[in-house]
Amino acid sequence: MKRDLAGKMTSVLPPKIVRLIALIGEKARDGGSRAYLTGGFVRDLVMGRANKDVDIMVERDAIGFAEQMACVLNASIAVYPRFGTATLFLPPIGSRGTGGLRVDLTTARRETYKKPAVLPDVAEGDIKDDLFRRDFTINAMAVSISPGEFGALVDPYGGERDIGKKIIRVLHPGSFIDDPTRIFRAVRFEQRLGFKIETGTKRLIRTAVREKMFDKISGERLRNELVAVMNEKYPERCFSRMSQLDEIRFISPGMKLVPDCARVAGQIRKDHAWYAVAFPEEDHPGLWIAYLMLFMSGLTSRAAERALKRLIFSKDVTAKVMAQKSVPRKEIELLGSGRLTAAGIYDILKPLPVEAVLFLYSSAGGTQARKYIRAYLRKYRYVVTETDGNALHELGVRPGPFMGKLLREILRRKLEGKAPTKERELGLVRDILSGRERI
Ligand code: CTP
Repeated sequence: MKRDLAGKMTSVLPPKIVRLIALIGEKARDGGSRAYLTGGFVRDLVMGRANKDVDIMVERDAIGFAEQMACVLNASIAVYPRFGTATLFLPPIGSRGTGGLRVDLTTARRETYKKPAVLPDVAEGDIKDDLFRRDFTINAMAVSISPGEFGALVDPYGGERDIGKKIIRVLHPGSFIDDPTRIFRAVRFEQRLGFKIETGTKRLIRTAVREKMFDKISGERLRNELVAVMNEKYPERCFSRMSQLDEIRFISPGMKLVPDCARVAGQIRKDHAWYAVAFPEEDHPGLWIAYLMLFMSGLTSRAAERALKRLIFSKDVTAKVMAQKSVPRKEIELLGSGRLTAAGIYDILKPLPVEAVLFLYSSAGGTQARKYIRAYLRKYRYVVTETDGNALHELGVRPGPFMGKLLREILRRKLEGKAPTKERELGLVRDILSGRERI
């Protein structure tokens, strides 16, 4: 007898989402096609969890069907004709209570991989073909949403059994050759779900790593995988498992994680949460960039730069990571020393993007550096002089290096609380110009 998940759907998912799914199933039937939930949505459903990304497979013409559903649901749509897929984005405040939901629609397909690691050729197939091209048994299940069989589980490769056994298993030995990004996905699901990669699958990963299969993946796809790891709740667990399986050599041969990686990752989470509350008016720096900095901590600047280039990270991300890596060891020691003035702290931290400052904060070993960095974030970074070049010009100072030196001196005194008002700033300038004060 077929396993029926209709009850589970109603207990796990909000009623409005169940109704939406049923409506999609009905509309597909009206167009002569059967429809199924697939992928992570089904995995999570079988595990009793809700997932906000609804993956639906229809037997024919997902794009045409998605266009029709976009009108019915008042959703925006993105189409990908090369893959025969489309995504519906339900309006943020949906009248059906489905706001913010994302529905991916695909046509059932059979994939053939002409060459390892490149995107496959795609042809129409049936549900079993479609499930067979997938990464792991736990992700290769479907649930029918067609009227008359709504809720019936399709599980030809033992996904539910493997969820029970808490294992990550590929469907066939060629899986990592077809798509080496699965080397990383295996670790990601294992760590997220608290499962174990099954022994045979682990052996296949080791072989794929030994044969450097990841060299065949485009930089963009590799980067997306790494970012997906960093968007996990506990990326350091993935880092550590990737390191154990020798996977991180794709970044740089011989790369090692820093020994206090797990501690720093925990600190990063706390510090980012603190920052969001302490500075609600500031942009909130992405948590994943902090994890990227952590991941790359063990690399030299040159190796990090090479890796960022290979992974085609944007100029902005590259500049932020490289700024953090280029802080001289001497300055990091100074931050921990207790011997810095406000101006000294400012000089070290001001040239850095806030992401790098926050990373220094989280990775600092001692309380002194954290105290300095907190003072910088709370106070010093906002300090600006009220006197500018024009004001100095009026006092007879000509533009040039001396003017720059004078402005820096005013800022220094201001950081130390010695020139709190515009009058005091100008008084200081007069004292310097008349020789009563030296700089
Ligand atoms: N898939 C695959 N091989 C890949 C990527 C995806 O077989 N390299 C299949 C899997 O069946 C997966 C589905 O496509 O379940 C959807 O992919 P994705 O959205 O990346 O993963 P999810 O399983 O939905 O996981 P998440 O919860 O992280 O979104």
